[in-house]
Amino acid sequence: MTKKVFITGAAGFIGFHLARFLRVRGDDVIGYDNFNDYYDPKLKRDRANKLAKIDIQVLEGDICDQSAIQKAVKEHQTTHIVHLAAQAGVRYSLDNPHAYIKSNIEGFLNILEICRRDNNIQLIYASSSSVYGRNEKIPFSTSDQTDKQASLYGITKKTNEMMAETYHHLFGVKSTGLRFFTVYGPWGRPDMAYFLFTKAILENRPIDIFNQGEMSRDFTYIDDIVQGIVSAIDRAYECDIFNLGHHHPNTLLELVETIENELGIKAKKNWLPMQPGDVMVTYADIEDSTNRLDFLPKVSLAKGISNFIQWYKEYYDLK
Ligand SMILES: NC(=O)c1ccc[n+]([C@@H]2O[C@H](COP(=O)([O-])OP(=O)(O)OC[C@H]3O[C@@H](n4cnc5c(N)ncnc54)[C@H](O)[C@@H]3O)[C@@H](O)[C@H]2O)c1
Repeated sequence: MTKKVFITGAAGFIGFHLARFLRVRGDDVIGYDNFNDYYDPKLKRDRANKLAKIDIQVLEGDICDQSAIQKAVKEHQTTHIVHLAAQAGVRYSLDNPHAYIKSNIEGFLNILEICRRDNNIQLIYASSSSVYGRNEKIPFSTSDQTDKQASLYGITKKTNEMMAETYHHLFGVKSTGLRFFTVYGPWGRPDMAYFLFTKAILENRPIDIFNQGEMSRDFTYIDDIVQGIVSAIDRAYECDIFNLGHHHPNTLLELVETIENELGIKAKKNWLPMQPGDVMVTYADIEDSTNRLDFLPKVSLAKGISNFIQWYKEYYDLK
């Protein structure tokens, strides 16, 4: 049976790549996004225009508009919702907390209510490595405690997982939560470090390095993330949570060196203290994801950054 996949946040970075992959393999895909200006909306429009060329429509709407999204899901005879729309970013949550409660909690409740009314819909939703908060044990396992959060962003994602689990218990809503670890790649997010660094270095501006660059992130390439999401769609677990991370953390300085090597330019660096809300390390334990989702990340940081920079130069029309 053809899957009819409704992707919220389809004009976003991960949603765009997922939509393309599903369409190419033959699924019926429709997107939903409010094209907000958290970062340059032109990038979102350009992604949506590219999707339109392969017959994927991205409806313009807000997940907080309950009747609009409910109608759209119904009209499309949706079999799967992949819920990616959210207010993303850790640092922004320190200054704009209300945006997180609105989109990430109220918006998520609307999605759960839709699935409650139609129990045949399989829900796959974006969680985050941020739910590990101040957890110090590495690698991070889904069986680790997650009750010490480091940011409001992390709190909203942890809350989503608890809401999904409770809606399964109460109403039989089937869901899979995916904890993404620092996703990067072509068509990526302009607010993330790899994107900011590349832009600043090419514009001959200094880059901000926090905590001597000693913080590590489990940088995960977009194609590997898409493979994990698709696998979660196909496996259709009842109520589960998985880590999707590279399982190979790199320091911030290693990220900078990789970008410098690829560009052939040395970065000017501003050394700054650790930022509130940030954590020292993220590192995914993926044993369970490998066993039950066949999740096997393949793309190295060097290859992934090279692909990103190639895209960046083409998109921004640089020599
Ligand atoms: N990229 C990462 O490293 C990363 C890591 C962990 C978790 N995540 C999560 O994965 C999901 C996708 O992230 P992304 O990197 O593609 O981010 P993104 O910001 O590029 O995509 C999110 C999309 O959702 C849309 N959106 C936001 N609020 C909305 C609302 N109220 N109604 C309708 N649309 C709305 C935005 O316009 C955007 O296009 C998010 O839930 C994010 O929190 C991402």
